[in-house]
Amino acid sequence: MNILAISGSPRPARNTASLMKLVIESAKTHASDVNAMWCNLNDMSYSGCQSCLACKEPNVKSCVRKDSLAFVLDVMLASQAWVIGTPVYMGHVSGQLKLLLDRMYGFTGPDRENRLPAGKKVVVAITQGAGEEHHTELAEQLTAWLNRRGLEARVIRACNMPVGAPVPEFSQPVKDEASALGKWLVTP
Ligand SMILES: Cc1cc2nc3c(=O)[nH]c(=O)nc-3n(C[C@H](O)[C@H](O)[C@H](O)COP(=O)(O)O)c2cc1C
Repeated sequence: MNILAISGSPRPARNTASLMKLVIESAKTHASDVNAMWCNLNDMSYSGCQSCLACKEPNVKSCVRKDSLAFVLDVMLASQAWVIGTPVYMGHVSGQLKLLLDRMYGFTGPDRENRLPAGKKVVVAITQGAGEEHHTELAEQLTAWLNRRGLEARVIRACNMPVGAPVPEFSQPVKDEASALGKWLVTP
């Protein structure tokens, strides 16, 4: 199965990417046919939604804008599962990821129909400097928003992850949850 990993962190090997990798490595141990494609949004050149509404034309399948996000949106349509990662920035997802979420407007057709094939699973991996009592609403909001798009979404949060820590260190409960979510991702 094809898993698309989309990192909204500008740091390719730190907290967010490391948490995403825990999920993906677990998925690989639970299914022999996992093909994971990794995408660092920060390395790409793209804009936010221009509100052109061209995606609301009937014969369109997603956002029509032809920058480097077009390929990512295509792979989002084609892959069976996604792992989306973001650090919490000022209480929200990173700007890199927010532009992608806005461009997903094109996955909704002119009659509000969902153009995303049913049955996709998504793990959202969130890391934050603050403790777990903070930013709970962000996880809830993302889960609800993805579910409304017909995706089966689960969130994993790694809290108390300072931006200045030299090496990401995850607690055992977070490692266990990442492992369970990797298995869930590849279980029919
Ligand atoms: C610009 C910026 C804004 C941040 N805002 C928050 C915040 O609002 N809440 C929080 O808990 N952590 C915040 N952090 C900390 C990061 O979310 C946290 O350290 C995260 O794990 C970093 O992920 P990374 O290693 O993938 O870059 C912020 C960090 C940066 C650089």
